[in-house]
Amino acid sequence: VARHRIAVLPGDGIGPEIMNVTLEVLRTAGRRFDVEWEFLEAPIGGAAIDAAGDPLPVETLSLCRRAEAVLLACVGGPKWDNLSSKQRPEAGLLRLRKELEAFANLRPVRTFSQLLDASPLKSELVAGVDLIIVRELTGDVYFGEPRGIEFIPEGNGEREAFNTMLYRESEIDRVAKVAFELAMTRPRRKLCSVDKANVLETSMLWRSRVSTMAASYPDVEFSSMYVDNAAMQLVRYPKQFDVVLTGNMFGDILSDEASMISGSLGMLPSASLGDGTFPAIYEPIHGSAPDIAGQNKANPMACILSATLMLRYSLNRPDMADAIELAITNVLDQGYRTADIMSAGKRLCNCSEIGDKILEALQESAVSR
Ligand code: NAD
Ligand code: IPM
Ligand code: MN
Repeated sequence: VARHRIAVLPGDGIGPEIMNVTLEVLRTAGRRFDVEWEFLEAPIGGAAIDAAGDPLPVETLSLCRRAEAVLLACVGGPKWDNLSSKQRPEAGLLRLRKELEAFANLRPVRTFSQLLDASPLKSELVAGVDLIIVRELTGDVYFGEPRGIEFIPEGNGEREAFNTMLYRESEIDRVAKVAFELAMTRPRRKLCSVDKANVLETSMLWRSRVSTMAASYPDVEFSSMYVDNAAMQLVRYPKQFDVVLTGNMFGDILSDEASMISGSLGMLPSASLGDGTFPAIYEPIHGSAPDIAGQNKANPMACILSATLMLRYSLNRPDMADAIELAITNVLDQGYRTADIMSAGKRLCNCSEIGDKILEALQESAVSR
């Protein structure tokens, strides 16, 4: 029997609902593949603020450090929206990424043939899309100092707010290397770096470092694109993209946009990787969905698919990842859909029902192996 110790952070909103389903899927896969799980659960985000007064309590961080990988659902919610930037739920997630030096966030975007009609884009445009966004995750305007909201001296009580967009060459280089190496493993070997080098110094430095690195990857078909154009090209003709490398904020925005190629934000997983010193974090790209939280309506697939990325990248169990992905494919083939990917003629399921269907499919495919 193999044993794996995983830090489990359900977080807020729909987080506990989708994490429950994800853990059930992992347990079922574990029984089939002789893997014993040690799930170490801890609060993060709003749940941790309520329990311990801190969106990332030291206990949660040290538990993450002791695990082989971190599985995280999502944080945030209206209840905590008026806290200062350092005390908000989101600050806990940002600190976790920083502490674990998870600088490369891989966000694969693919279409499921069963979900072509769930995308608002034309089927022929999205069919066959297979791209991956490599988003820098521990720098940029998210972390740059100084930042703040202050009264303007002699401003008659008027305030101003400021953030600092900042990248060091070493920060650009390490994430660019991840993206080039990844491009080398893919059939098309294309890499498009997205920036705003016509306006921003951070992007000028970004473009020059990434272009320099491109010279040492002659097999990679390299290009750079401005972010405004990239946002347009993603919906005009998404199949042109293979690996998309970009900074923290542009990557955040472009990946939510790109999720609609798959049909829903609820389908997109991610892996937040460092250099191997600390455990990686696996997290859906979506948030806590306050509008549907507590209603058992959420799509757990982004979270489950994040767990399959964990099986591939951190636990070296592609066999288990394949089995879980096959189970998801079977469930989609059978026409089961959560509300976010629902379309005519399909069978509406809630979060736990779609979870049960995935468990059944996982068990059946084991029997018919
Ligand atoms: P959101 O991603 O939570 O939701 C956007 C829309 O997508 C909503 O209509 C929601 O219902 C829907 N949606 C998202 N995930 C879904 C799923 N799995 N199944 C079905 N529908 C889904 O973004 P938001 O509303 O802008 O933010 C809500 C909160 O989440 C905020 O506090 C924000 O800071 C936080 N947030 C957290 C993360 C994270 O933890 N990684 C990511 C994004 C936003
Ligand atoms: C994401 C989220 C986070 C981000 C927030 C909640 C800090 O939007 O994971 O995409 O902006 O990185
Ligand atoms: Mn986001």
